[in-house]
Amino acid sequence: MYRTHTCGCLRAGNVNETVTLAGWVQKVRNLGAMTFIDLRDRYGLTQITVEEHSPAEVREAAARVGREWVLRVTGRVVEREAKNPKMPTGDIEVVAERIEVLNEAQTPPFTIEENSDGGDDLRMKYRYLDLRRPPLQRNLILRHKMAQEIRRFLDAEGFLEIETPYLIKSTPEGARDFVVPSRMNPNQFYALPQSPQTLKQLLMVAGYDRYFQIVRCFRDEDLRADRQPEFTQIDCEMSFVEQEDVLEIFERWAKHMFREVLGVEFNEPLRRMPWIEAMEKYGSDKPDLRFGMEFADLTDLAKGHGFSVFDDAEYITGFAATGCATYTRKQIDALTEFVKRPQVGAKGLIWIRVEEGAVKSSIDKFFSPEEVRALAARCGAKAGDMVLILCGKKFKALTQLCALRLEVAQQLGLRDPKKFAPLWVVDFPMFEWDDETQRFYAMHHPFTSPKPEDVQYLKSDPGRVRANAYDFVCNGTELGGGSIRIHDQQLQAQIFECLGFTPEAAEEQFGFLMNAFKYGAPPHGGLAFGFDRLCSLFGGSDSIRDYIAFPKNNAGRDVMLDAPSAIAPAQLDELCLDLRKPEA
Ligand code: AMO
Repeated sequence: MYRTHTCGCLRAGNVNETVTLAGWVQKVRNLGAMTFIDLRDRYGLTQITVEEHSPAEVREAAARVGREWVLRVTGRVVEREAKNPKMPTGDIEVVAERIEVLNEAQTPPFTIEENSDGGDDLRMKYRYLDLRRPPLQRNLILRHKMAQEIRRFLDAEGFLEIETPYLIKSTPEGARDFVVPSRMNPNQFYALPQSPQTLKQLLMVAGYDRYFQIVRCFRDEDLRADRQPEFTQIDCEMSFVEQEDVLEIFERWAKHMFREVLGVEFNEPLRRMPWIEAMEKYGSDKPDLRFGMEFADLTDLAKGHGFSVFDDAEYITGFAATGCATYTRKQIDALTEFVKRPQVGAKGLIWIRVEEGAVKSSIDKFFSPEEVRALAARCGAKAGDMVLILCGKKFKALTQLCALRLEVAQQLGLRDPKKFAPLWVVDFPMFEWDDETQRFYAMHHPFTSPKPEDVQYLKSDPGRVRANAYDFVCNGTELGGGSIRIHDQQLQAQIFECLGFTPEAAEEQFGFLMNAFKYGAPPHGGLAFGFDRLCSLFGGSDSIRDYIAFPKNNAGRDVMLDAPSAIAPAQLDELCLDLRKPEA
């Protein structure tokens, strides 16, 4: 037997027992007469003691071992003289009677403790060593528990877990596909699913009316803290449902997760915010509602005072930064610099300092004190607040102001990771206009159904059509999204047309789905949650990487495996592939 106990479980009640532990050496302290070894496994740390009168082989072994060696230690549990209340096993130590070296180890490139001295790159390269550290273990344990809880809930609700293939035909979800060449079908490629969207719809046609899957998805897109090229979705689909049915069950599910995993209760129905309200009040379709500082439309009040910046703008919007009237000139300049950064892209920032009985602003030259006060009042400003205003094209100005709102909230310590503000964002527009390519794109995906009352505008005013689509948002992150799908062939053809697909192109890309719909497609809809994002939200971190065992870095590389990498010429030959030098 390699072990009788783990390194995390011995307590005072085990005193006098003879035990065998197996694990890794975290630290050796040689104090001359005594040697202490901290032995680690994923359950915890136990102090192993080697004394002056311990058997010679034990003393020799203790003198030889180094960090991360793998040991099996047999000994007697004794009560510690100097107890360590910070360690769960801190009341005891194990006096070694036998130490067996199961494996030696090279000195690790960084310390493997609660906090490490290793930089990001190094820890990614040696991920298997980083994963030995308690913070990462806690993250993966949290992820495991959440996966179990998801399965328990959905199973009880009658959802079937059904796997779908990874080697498929492209599904458009707005990103680029990862493709896999086929040896048996030269010059043809599989695409890895950006999501199992079309497959789960086919399962609905097949009659499996409640489906779910915790499934890997692949998207070749630019990476950020909350984006990985391969990530995991909790993917769900239901038949014979309307939007309300989907929201009801997944709101119950979300509340169940908060309660079971975090002990956080939400007793009230979650807020449902129309997309346009989210945009106009928070400048984002994923508003962070942990704090207020809502935007006000100032366009009518601000125009016509001879201030050309406002007069030339399509839209003028601002918010009252709580308690920021004390901001110094330097702090205001820093905020101005912030909004002018290319990532935000504003030209400048207008401010109004609201004090008891007085206002001061950067536009005093053009506005009377009463007019300035009216602007501040529209933003709900109170004495002690600072109103911050941006202007320009409507949605651009709103998005820029959102970045500023989040920055100010960060400075004020309002983005508390222990506080949760979930909501549904609903009534998304069906289409998004792209200036660059001069065409409409599906805001969600091309299978999303328009609201029946808006179908009349599909031809005349596509921008006005709203979708039966919804997002689950929490703390400024989109955790999930879905829609009621189109199950009517004619309507689907019309949507493809709006999106600029010729009938031939639609047939070529989605023929399999359109064909299936000829054989009795039930009304259906669903959604998918980002599992990695849910884990990092629950764990209190911004980065999903910390919740993925083997993530990619920001350049999409697995630096541990050194992937992607070149393949052998013979493999290329088999695949009928010739390589070309990338254009500079
Ligand atoms: P959507 O594209 O909105 O919907 O994705 C659903 C959820 O997946 C998460 N997510 C990601 N997480 C990490 N890295 C990424 N690169 C990434 N991309 C998306 C987000 C997002 O809310 N088929 C539809 C769902 C449906 O309509 O049923 C879909 O994939 O949390």
